[in-house]
Amino acid sequence: MKILVTGGAGFIGSAVIREAINNSEHVVINVDKLTYAGNLESLSTIDESDRYFFEQADICDRSSVKEILVRYQPHIIMHLAAESHVDKSIDGPDEFIQSNIVGTFSLLEEARRYWSSMHETQRDYFRFHHVSTDEVYGDLGDSNQRFTEKSNYAPSSPYSASKAASDHLVRAWSRTYGLPTLITNCSNNYGPYQFPEKLIPVVILNALAGKPIPVYGRGDQVRDWLFVEDHAKALLRIAVEANIGGTYNIGGNSESSNLELVQLVCEILDDLVDSHPIGVTKFEELIVFVQDRPGHDVRYAIDPSKIKADLNWSPEESLESGIRKTVVWYTANGDWAQRVVQGAHLNHESRAGGKK
Ligand code: NAD
Ligand code: DAU
Repeated sequence: MKILVTGGAGFIGSAVIREAINNSEHVVINVDKLTYAGNLESLSTIDESDRYFFEQADICDRSSVKEILVRYQPHIIMHLAAESHVDKSIDGPDEFIQSNIVGTFSLLEEARRYWSSMHETQRDYFRFHHVSTDEVYGDLGDSNQRFTEKSNYAPSSPYSASKAASDHLVRAWSRTYGLPTLITNCSNNYGPYQFPEKLIPVVILNALAGKPIPVYGRGDQVRDWLFVEDHAKALLRIAVEANIGGTYNIGGNSESSNLELVQLVCEILDDLVDSHPIGVTKFEELIVFVQDRPGHDVRYAIDPSKIKADLNWSPEESLESGIRKTVVWYTANGDWAQRVVQGAHLNHESRAGGKK
């Protein structure tokens, strides 16, 4: 298959592309605007492959998207490009409305035009796979329920509202125009190459630098954590094998409160790192409770029974094994993290050029 991945220089998109290039015969076209979160260095292990192509483009720019679709003729579009950080959406929602809602609209329209112009035999294979989040379902509070594919939409933050809006657009393009779509809603991802604005890389990098580890509120919010490489495998399986029109929830079967998770990361760091910062004997001594996130959702949890039943997918990593792999990766890849923190990854000239 020829798969066009939007947002392929991001955390999850780059995991999807590494998985596709390393463990399949798929051809991948990565379309990414390269915002602060886009990092071509996350693709350095596969960017010499003759099955990998990169195009720097904003999905809101319809003429560029149109030209790329016509030139590459993909069989599948996997749409991951988005602004993804909740705190950032609270500080300034504009980019979230633009990339997540207007961007998805633009991509849908150009995908519809491209799909309509395809030969009938090829149209049968085409899929538009929209990658979304469990946050569209809102807050489970202190109930024991889990999100299913039938849960109501009730987003809380500007980020989750923009993702919910994009899901609704995809559903409407499927029902009204018959565009062959798939939607996945996934829980919190973690693993190698995650931008250090999200909880787990913040904890690891602050701990290693001897800086305070910020836990919002009392740290009692619950998330369902999934190792990113498990998510990438699930996404590729769905994109290629799932029945058109399907929606799937993807989760890690790994619920944890934020405080327990941070303590687990600290324990694994204690175990794996030879020396502690001066004055620190255990990394959890660095935990500080800070002001809570406005509108902070208390609990998310995924019921993954549909993807297990339909596609026999379940995560390979436990929370413990996935966090251990993540800590090992960040300690071995200090240069990657250092360059991201300094913004050095934003100098894309050298890498963007050769793969057009
Ligand atoms: P990320 O922020 O790491 O990467 C997003 C990528 O999209 C970046 O490479 C960025 O340059 C690109 N991008 C942003 N706006 C663009 C635009 N207008 N045009 C082209 N490219 C653009 O995000 P992530 O964590 O990898 O998340 C990827 C997708 O998965 C998002 O849609 C997100 O909502 C969803 N998701 C994320 C998680 C998670 O835990 N990270 C969980 C569930 C779903
Ligand atoms: O649930 C899926 C979502 O998971 C994705 O859709 C988002 O793109 C992704 O960013 C993530 O959203 P969260 O807000 O849950 O992730 P974040 O890593 O920002 O925060 C995880 C939890 O940890 C959350 O309850 C807030 C808290 N937190 C976060 C940071 C950055 C802290 O306590 N301290 C921190 O420094």
